[in-house]
Amino acid sequence: MSVVPKSRQSEAPDWDALYRLGSPSWEKSGPAEELVRIIGQERLIEPCTTLELGCGSGADAVCLAQHRFEVTAVDCSPLALERAHLRAEQAGAPVRFVLDDVFEFARDEGPFDLVYDAGFYHSVREYDLDKLLDMLWRVTQPGSLYLALVGAAGERAKGGPPQVAKDDIRDELGRLFDFVHMREFRFQSVNRPEGYRGWSCLMRRPDYGV
Ligand SMILES: C[S@@+](CC[C@H](N)C(=O)[O-])C[C@H]1O[C@@H](n2cnc3c(N)ncnc32)[C@H](O)[C@@H]1O
Repeated sequence: MSVVPKSRQSEAPDWDALYRLGSPSWEKSGPAEELVRIIGQERLIEPCTTLELGCGSGADAVCLAQHRFEVTAVDCSPLALERAHLRAEQAGAPVRFVLDDVFEFARDEGPFDLVYDAGFYHSVREYDLDKLLDMLWRVTQPGSLYLALVGAAGERAKGGPPQVAKDDIRDELGRLFDFVHMREFRFQSVNRPEGYRGWSCLMRRPDYGV
């Protein structure tokens, strides 16, 4: 069986196998520049309790902790989390890493003030959108923020993240959240210096029931 994610696949890939192959295309040496802009330069989000979905090898979780966010970062890949622990230790960053299926984890934890994901929604929506929306509902409360970095449709260069059209994001995540912004950014990649098109989606769960 291939371990490479296909577009619109019906099953989750074997994530740990992708890490065992080496450094997967999404793995970064430092945090997402868009995250640094949002929490560091623009200060659009103040430090708060934060859940990172699918933290991978932890570059963004470490950055959040360095900006005084109280971070719980979950990933199902033992190898990714091993790398994440090492990264946090070297940086002296206090991150609570959890090795678990985030859908299981979310049964008993939360709510969080902020949910963050770089590449989780755009991967998981391809095989489990309903489960994802249900989980997002359970780990948030009215007023919680959700920041999702999502591969943008229309990128012609090969090797980038799964691509999602703006209207699909609004249709899917707009069921639970109001959009504070949806703006373009570039996913950094070791494969391509100019990176890949992405949507930075900052959302807030409304005060009223949906
Ligand atoms: C595209 S990668 C992004 C990783 C990281 N956010 C980054 O930017 O480097 C998606 C991550 O989600 C993790 N993942 C996928 N499904 C998961 C699940 N059900 N529970 C926990 N982690 C999951 C994978 O192991 C992988 O590390």
